[in-house]
Amino acid sequence: MNILHIDSSPRQQSHSRQFSAAIVEKLLGVAPGADIIRRDLGADPLPQTVALYAAALASPATLAAPPTGSLDLSEQLIQEVEAADVVVIGTPMHNLTTPSVLKAWIDQVLRVGRTMKSTPAGKVGMLRDRPVFIGVTSGGFFTGECANQPDFLTPYLSLTLSSIGLKTQQFFPLQGTAFLDWEQASVARQTLLAAIDLTVVPSPGDIHTSSALPADAGGR
Ligand SMILES: Cc1cc2nc3c(=O)[nH]c(=O)nc-3n(C[C@H](O)[C@H](O)[C@H](O)COP(=O)(O)O)c2cc1C
Repeated sequence: MNILHIDSSPRQQSHSRQFSAAIVEKLLGVAPGADIIRRDLGADPLPQTVALYAAALASPATLAAPPTGSLDLSEQLIQEVEAADVVVIGTPMHNLTTPSVLKAWIDQVLRVGRTMKSTPAGKVGMLRDRPVFIGVTSGGFFTGECANQPDFLTPYLSLTLSSIGLKTQQFFPLQGTAFLDWEQASVARQTLLAAIDLTVVPSPGDIHTSSALPADAGGR
């Protein structure tokens, strides 16, 4: 089994990194031999959308004949998703939504004609569904009785993932980190992860992965 492990915090000692690592540890408990494909967007940010890529995505005609090299990074990132049986994302909330580094990843992975179709009824995913576990951390509160801010992260990330076909999602919000020390955060994390549903993790007989990883994927 392959696990695509994505982090998006800019800092190394980080609540969302510890959260995603704890989710991966849980997955390794049920799939001990799993391989990890690492995509550390915080430590190794993707470039912001460049002119060549925007030119390729400008119209059906440009997508059919994209400028040379314009889709290379997008293709590499999509192949990492395709090679994964399970995806794990650690993300802090930054100004009510995802950090810009995660948005940059989304901009490369959501591509009409490759990972989704645009139809009159909306976007239809072209990738096989696989479970996605998302550990979200926020300094304040966006759900529950203490909530004092809207949440544009969860609905946005949920919709973007499902628009490419990744519909089996589990979100775990660890809120109020501004008021927790590391030990308290660890306890809160374990409490949230007690609810993780690992029955969605494919068993060895159900694994469909056949795509080869891009040559320089992994180890980030
Ligand atoms: C640029 C920036 C924007 C932030 N915006 C929010 C926000 O809108 N709401 C919130 O609750 N916390 C916000 N925070 C706090 C982080 O969500 C919180 O510290 C989180 O636990 C950080 O996760 P990390 O330790 O993985 O980086 C923000 C932090 C940064 C650096």
